Amino acid sequence: MGFKFMTAEEAADQIKNEDIIGFSGFTAAGCPKVITQALAVKAEKEHETGRPFKIGIFTGASTGDAIDGALARAHAIKFRSPYQSSADLRKELNNRDAHYYDLHLSELPQYLRYGFLPKPTVAIFECCDVTEDGEIILTSAVGIAPTVAHLADKIFLELNHFHPKALKGMHDIYEPADPPVRREIPVYKPSDRIGVPYIKVDPKKIVGIVETNLPNEVGGFTPTDEVTEQIGKNVSNFLTSEIEAGRIPASFLPVQSGVGNVANAVLGAMGSNPNIPAFEVYTEVIQDSVIKLMKENRVKFASGCSLTISAETLNDVYADLDFFKERIVLRPQEISNNPEIARRLGLIAINTALEADIFGNINSTHVVGTKMMNGIGGSADFCRNSYLSIFTTPSVAKGGKISSIVPMVSHLDHSEHSVKILVTECGVADLRGLSPIQRAENIIENCVHPQYKKLLNDYLNMGIKGHTPQNLQACFAFHNVFNKTGDMSRVDWNDY
Ligand code: COA
Repeated sequence: MGFKFMTAEEAADQIKNEDIIGFSGFTAAGCPKVITQALAVKAEKEHETGRPFKIGIFTGASTGDAIDGALARAHAIKFRSPYQSSADLRKELNNRDAHYYDLHLSELPQYLRYGFLPKPTVAIFECCDVTEDGEIILTSAVGIAPTVAHLADKIFLELNHFHPKALKGMHDIYEPADPPVRREIPVYKPSDRIGVPYIKVDPKKIVGIVETNLPNEVGGFTPTDEVTEQIGKNVSNFLTSEIEAGRIPASFLPVQSGVGNVANAVLGAMGSNPNIPAFEVYTEVIQDSVIKLMKENRVKFASGCSLTISAETLNDVYADLDFFKERIVLRPQEISNNPEIARRLGLIAINTALEADIFGNINSTHVVGTKMMNGIGGSADFCRNSYLSIFTTPSVAKGGKISSIVPMVSHLDHSEHSVKILVTECGVADLRGLSPIQRAENIIENCVHPQYKKLLNDYLNMGIKGHTPQNLQACFAFHNVFNKTGDMSRVDWNDY
């Protein structure tokens, strides 16, 4: 092969202060792992000598610790987009030591092409194979790699031998044309393939290849507990009743399911509900539960942007790759999360809220209004455009000191106009066709934890007359009291 092989340190040496790097991967799946660690060491050395060293970072979504964790700890990040979930990076963002633009994941590639954001100068991709004529086969995720490959001047590859070359064929790489000449994206069912299995680049742009043999940094899931199991049952029973009522076709619709433990539990509950037929998944993150259900023939096909599965489950997939390649396709996030396709396929979108309000607005991102948790991710790509948009959340957090349902969300990500169903372990609020006061009564009755029901009913009675009975003096009382005392249940309406 005519490419230049090098060490991670040699690659890092070629990356300059203020470079803007676009990475492959989506979540910890498919992300590079060694060049960024060498870059973090280089940044620390530069800082010790008093020289500045910070880079801009575009990724698919969150990454492994080798990117966000290592570079945040080295204070080497100038800006970051579109999503993260690293405790160390979160600290940098909330201290405003790094700038963060929290973006809808489907929009990032086109924003880069349109020139709305700075152009990535360098690409770092993990791949399982590359050909002399510049065909790159990615590993367990796609993310923004196809767009970055075209925009960046220099490409570094981490050729990770942990992932088999036979992965070729699982990816479907397709980039839509830009307006005014964009046509429809021809995905009419989750299993449609519309592109090619590789990213094609000018081989001259590949300036170095670093060989590795490393598993993904994907953590396992915490086991389901009573609360997440009950949320899962509530969602799956609700979906069953929608089939019975004829509002969901008997053959069912493709499912999009968000990230995290609640999402994993919900899919598990749907899989074990005999009244839900075997279904297809059209989502961004394919989690462990999907693979398990696929083996049991409960999930027929999964289209996603990443295989965000534990090392053990990934080994199972690689051990039976022919079976899974027929049933899984990995797409760029511009396609996996595309609003046009979500609307056409009629997705059932199930995402997790950090906080909801009694009128059906959702905060997915900000803890008590100011601190960034992770980001909006793909939740709005799906929520606004799906057939049925469901948000789930445990009714309380921090042992009951926080009610996840408040008078007014402290930050708005998804408005009452997009949110159709709210589910907690207490029950289901179906908000379709309800006015604000009806939504509030329904949510308080069905979703609020018993500890907070009276407080929220009393709040409604204090509402100023009008279409939406908010009380602007008191709507953030839960948050203010939590900030002062550490316990929202200590709100006393006599103070307002
Ligand atoms: N106020 C403050 N903190 C809250 C809270 C609230 N209303 N509700 C939950 N929390 C805290 C929890 O206590 C927990 O804290 P800890 O990490 O210190 O234990 C943390 O938030 C995460 O909560 P958890 O119940 O473990 O939820 P999760 O792992 O299911 O994640 C989100 C929930 C909302 C953070 C996560 O789903 C997310 O980032 N969503 C936005 C992006 C998205 O929806 N992507 C999917 C698109 S496909």
